[in-house]
Amino acid sequence: MTPEFWHQRWQRGEIGWHSETFNRHLTEHWPILGLSAASRVLVPLCGKSQDLLWLAGRGHRVLGVELSPIAARDFFRENGLKPQVTDLSPAPFERWALDELVLLVGDFFALTPEHLKAADGAGIDAVYDRAALIALPPELRPAYAAHLTALLRGAGATAQSPESLLITLDYAQAQMQGPPFAVTQAEVQALFADAFDIRTVAAFDALAENPRFAERGLDRLVEHVYRLSLRRDAATATR
Ligand SMILES: C[S@@+](CC[C@H](N)C(=O)[O-])C[C@H]1O[C@@H](n2cnc3c(N)ncnc32)[C@H](O)[C@@H]1O
Repeated sequence: MTPEFWHQRWQRGEIGWHSETFNRHLTEHWPILGLSAASRVLVPLCGKSQDLLWLAGRGHRVLGVELSPIAARDFFRENGLKPQVTDLSPAPFERWALDELVLLVGDFFALTPEHLKAADGAGIDAVYDRAALIALPPELRPAYAAHLTALLRGAGATAQSPESLLITLDYAQAQMQGPPFAVTQAEVQALFADAFDIRTVAAFDALAENPRFAERGLDRLVEHVYRLSLRRDAATATR
């Protein structure tokens, strides 16, 4: 999936992943992370998700990262919000910000701890990944996991070691082309077990609620919700 693929999806309005409601797994399971209200939450590949608003509504400082300026524009416009748009230094991100909500427009893979610092000056307490890991083809997923881990390690000290809620989809990959891609529990282990303690929080049969996937040929669709806790040894390794 090249950046061009995603830019075209946004230009054509082909954004079938977008939901006008808050994600049920987020609202149900986020509290288990035990975060304080002022926590800063990183949302990679955030699109124009309503979940950004849910997180901000809990008092969190929310930092979304998204390739498409159309997504950022629509997020603020459709929610009646007027952000300040500036170039982030160091380049190449644009910063769209309103109070505790900041979207960085640019390539997640180009994001560095310096950008995080420049964006609003604090460490990362938590990560919310819905439809980010599973948006990426198999060959990019190890790079995504490694990049996320490096960002959390390099982002600076937080009161507690960063926690993440990760939501994946699993289905028979041969039955449908991604995105969204199937990511098995074994792959989550392979990608994250070196640096994170991984707990499966929920497994949810999602086929009945998603007829468009049944129409595309799937006979099984399971959503998994994971809690990933960056191990303190890993969190402090490069500090
Ligand atoms: C499947 S959508 C999910 C969006 C959002 N997480 C949600 O739940 O609605 C994936 C998003 O990632 C964005 N994206 C893809 N590659 C990216 C990258 N390298 N850096 C930042 N955003 C990226 C796409 O533009 C798209 O909006």
